[in-house]
Amino acid sequence: MTDLRLIFIGPPGSGKGTQAKRLASRGFVHISTGDLLRRQVAAGSAEGQEVLQIMRRGGLAPDRVIFELIEDAMVRHRGSPMIFDGFPRTSDQAAWLASFRIDMACIFEISDAQVLRRLGNRVVGMDGAIYDLELLPPPPGVQYIRRVDDTPAIHRGRLQNYREQEAQLRDFYARNKLLQTVDASLPLGRVAEQMETLLSRLRYDGKQSVPQCISSS
Ligand code: AP5
Repeated sequence: MTDLRLIFIGPPGSGKGTQAKRLASRGFVHISTGDLLRRQVAAGSAEGQEVLQIMRRGGLAPDRVIFELIEDAMVRHRGSPMIFDGFPRTSDQAAWLASFRIDMACIFEISDAQVLRRLGNRVVGMDGAIYDLELLPPPPGVQYIRRVDDTPAIHRGRLQNYREQEAQLRDFYARNKLLQTVDASLPLGRVAEQMETLLSRLRYDGKQSVPQCISSS
């Protein structure tokens, strides 16, 4: 099986995007609902404007918008291994996704204090690369911006929204025996090692994988 489907769940700033981008170099298609929404905003459509207002409040985009984006991405990338980064975020979204095969739901575990520190230092390159002004600064000459939702007030709202949904998502994927966790508080390389261990249990070597049942953590 070469079409593994992984879900990354975690608070804002837990490193989901960073790890998904790293795994994109191993052949995974990185499907970030946040990035897809930001693309809609940049396209300037009426729907994009609606989404921008929601993101600025730290709220959640409507399910109809999200489901359409995910369905479209799944069709376009059929047959490829995929990572859903930041989807699902609610039990309704998880129930919708349950009609598709999923191989692992990975929860990024980290404290609120740590993610708030990370989000305060995050900047993004024009190509989408993720930097930390202290730990992983953009190379000299590289242009970068702060995301519109990277302000302390919005961070707190997004974090609160996440914590309200987390237990239900955790229960949902534990019941379905798909739940795995990573200690996302560790340095980048140590989180990457944990991901590699989980992938090796799914027997994914970057080119080919063999289906295998995994147990819940
Ligand atoms: P989205 O863009 O998905 O944001 P998020 O889930 O809140 O997550 P972030 O992108 O902020 O953080 P991350 O976990 O990817 O961390 P990162 O790798 O950047 O969503 C934005 C908005 O879109 C939502 O608020 C919502 O409005 C809407 N939306 C999205 N999906 C939706 C859905 N399914 N339904 C409805 N609405 C939806 O890392 C953060 C920083 O930490 C970086 O600076 C990085 O360099 C650093 N870092 C990463 N890992 C480490 C490490 N191990 N050690 C030290 N520093 C690290």
